[in-house]
Amino acid sequence: MAMNSIKIAPSILAADFGRLAEQVQLAQEAGADLIHIDIMDGQFVPNITMGPLVVEAVAKVAAIPLDVHLMIVEPDRFLKSFANSGAASITVHIEACAHLHRVLGQIDAFGCRPGVALNPHTPASALSEILDMAHIVNVMTVNPGYGGQRFLAGMTGKIRALRRMAGDMGRDIEIEVDGGINADTIKTAEAAGASIAIAGTCVFQHKMGIAAGIQELRRATAAKDADGDF
Ligand code: DX5
Ligand code: ZN
Repeated sequence: MAMNSIKIAPSILAADFGRLAEQVQLAQEAGADLIHIDIMDGQFVPNITMGPLVVEAVAKVAAIPLDVHLMIVEPDRFLKSFANSGAASITVHIEACAHLHRVLGQIDAFGCRPGVALNPHTPASALSEILDMAHIVNVMTVNPGYGGQRFLAGMTGKIRALRRMAGDMGRDIEIEVDGGINADTIKTAEAAGASIAIAGTCVFQHKMGIAAGIQELRRATAAKDADGDF
């Protein structure tokens, strides 16, 4: 595998929660780079998922970093809990934060990598004054709240713009693409400059199993094409 291939972060939102530990281990063994955990509160998004207890349970079986995506209002109230539960990175929504500068500073102070997520309607330029504090930008390519939705192709311009903004600042940030990732859309996202592909349905609900889902994404990426020359 080439060095700079797009990383794959399976989202456990699409996993079988009755067998969560086993499924996380399978994803890890199949070469997942991170585990993505979607936290929803029924207020910021129209769905409720899990809290720090589940992150803690996943942390017990995962050796790879846990990427926690908070789709909740007032995320500052819960940063410490998620940091203590084993999150390596914590991403908050710009739309949920009146004081984003402070929140990113708090995440950093709790020892996690700070991330900012953008809903589809939020432009890349909304991050111009804050990008220097973010280690991760999550570009939502669906409206957050549910797995299994269709990739919004119009978001690729935003990925490109963010990669340019980061380059202009001399920063090598992670750009995540989140929602509707499959073997086709991962190519589009990678070509636009995304460095982490978050994938739920196409990994955990792949007909041939979790490892096959990850391999299918891997094979679709540019790095695999390069390897194919050997
Ligand atoms: C959506 C979540 C995504 C979701 C992606 O609100 O943020 O992480 O799990 O799921 P798929 O890959 O099924 O679109
Ligand atoms: Zn997510």
